[in-house]
Amino acid sequence: MTKKIPKRNDPCWCNSGKKYKKCHLRSDERGETTPPGMVIKQVGKPTVAAGSISPKRQVPDSIVSPEYAKTGVAGGRGPSCKKESEEEISRMRHAGMVAREVLDTVLAAVEPGVTTNALDEIAHLSAISRGAYPSPLNYMGFPKSLCTSVNEVVVHGIPDSRELQEGDIINCDVTVYIDGMHGDCSETVLVGDVSREARALVEVTWECLMKGIAVVRPGRLFNEIGRVIESHTDKHGYSVVREFTGHGIGGIFHMAPYIAHFYEPANKARMEEGMTFTIEPMINSGSPNCMIWPDKWTAVTADLALSAQFEHTVLVTETGVEILTGGRDPWFLRG
Ligand code: MF3
Ligand code: CO
Ligand code: CO
Repeated sequence: MTKKIPKRNDPCWCNSGKKYKKCHLRSDERGETTPPGMVIKQVGKPTVAAGSISPKRQVPDSIVSPEYAKTGVAGGRGPSCKKESEEEISRMRHAGMVAREVLDTVLAAVEPGVTTNALDEIAHLSAISRGAYPSPLNYMGFPKSLCTSVNEVVVHGIPDSRELQEGDIINCDVTVYIDGMHGDCSETVLVGDVSREARALVEVTWECLMKGIAVVRPGRLFNEIGRVIESHTDKHGYSVVREFTGHGIGGIFHMAPYIAHFYEPANKARMEEGMTFTIEPMINSGSPNCMIWPDKWTAVTADLALSAQFEHTVLVTETGVEILTGGRDPWFLRG
C-alpha cells in the first residue's frame, strides 16, 4: 500500500488520528519518502523499460468481484485495527490458501524467454479456475491481474511484453478475492543463473520477512516488525523501502493498520488477536529511495540498484501468529 501525503492539518496517512504536522510530516521531509525532484546517483543502467500491455482480461460473471472491479475505486480503508470473527477467519484462511496456490502456479512458469504478460495470464486463469477474482485487476485502475517486479523494480510492476532474461530476479505478487476476502502473498525468484549478489539480496529479504513474522503476537507493538527487519537489513548493508508498507487485509484489500518495515519508535499501535495483515518488506541493495514511472504504478529504485520482496498474509492468534499464505519453502531452502 502506498502512503498518500496529506495536507499539514489533515489526519496523518498512518491513521494515528493525529494531524499530519504532528505526526509523520518531519520524517517524510527528512527524505524517508522521496521528495519530488530529489536527485540520486544511479549506480546501474536500467534493465527494465515499459513494454506493451495486452488488452484487459475478462472475469466470468459467476465470480463475485470486489467493490472496485467495475469502477476502479476502492472501498474505504476500513475500521482501524479490525478484529476478524471466527467465521471471517476461516474465509481468510481459504483466501490465503488459494492465493498461495495461484502464486505457486505462476512461479513454476518462470524461465528465460517467458514474458511477464504470460505470467499474468497464468495468474488470471488460475485464479478464476478456483472461483477467485484476481484482486489487482482494476484496483485503483491497475490494468493486470498480477504484479511482476523485475530487478530494479521495487513493487507494482505491470506485466507486459518484456521477456525474462537469464540473470533477472522477479517478484510475483498474487492477491485473490474469494468468499468476500482477500489473500495476498509474493515471492522473489531467480531466472536461470543469477549473480551471487542478487541471490544474497533475495535470501536476506526472505529472512527479513521471517524475522518480522516471528515477533507477531497479541500485545506486541507493531513497530517491533520494522525494528527487527531494519536491524537485519542494516547488518547486511542493504536498505529498507519506506514508501510502501504492509497493510491490514480482509474484505478490503488495503486497510489500517499500515505496517512499516523500518523502525518507527513513535508508533504505539499494538497487535490484537484476530487481526489479519500483511508483512511485505522491500529490501534494496543500494539507496532506499524510489521513483515512480509515468505509468503511475511501477516503482523502481532511485539508483537503479536491485530490489527484492517477499510477502505473507498473517493472522494474530491467541499465542502468536499463523501464516495464512504459507506453503512450500522458497527455492533456496529446497533441496
Ligand atoms: N499485492 C500488492 C500488495 O501487496 C498490491 C497490488 S495493488 C495493484 O499490497 F493494484 F498494484 F495490484
Ligand atoms: Co500486500
Ligand atoms: Co501483495
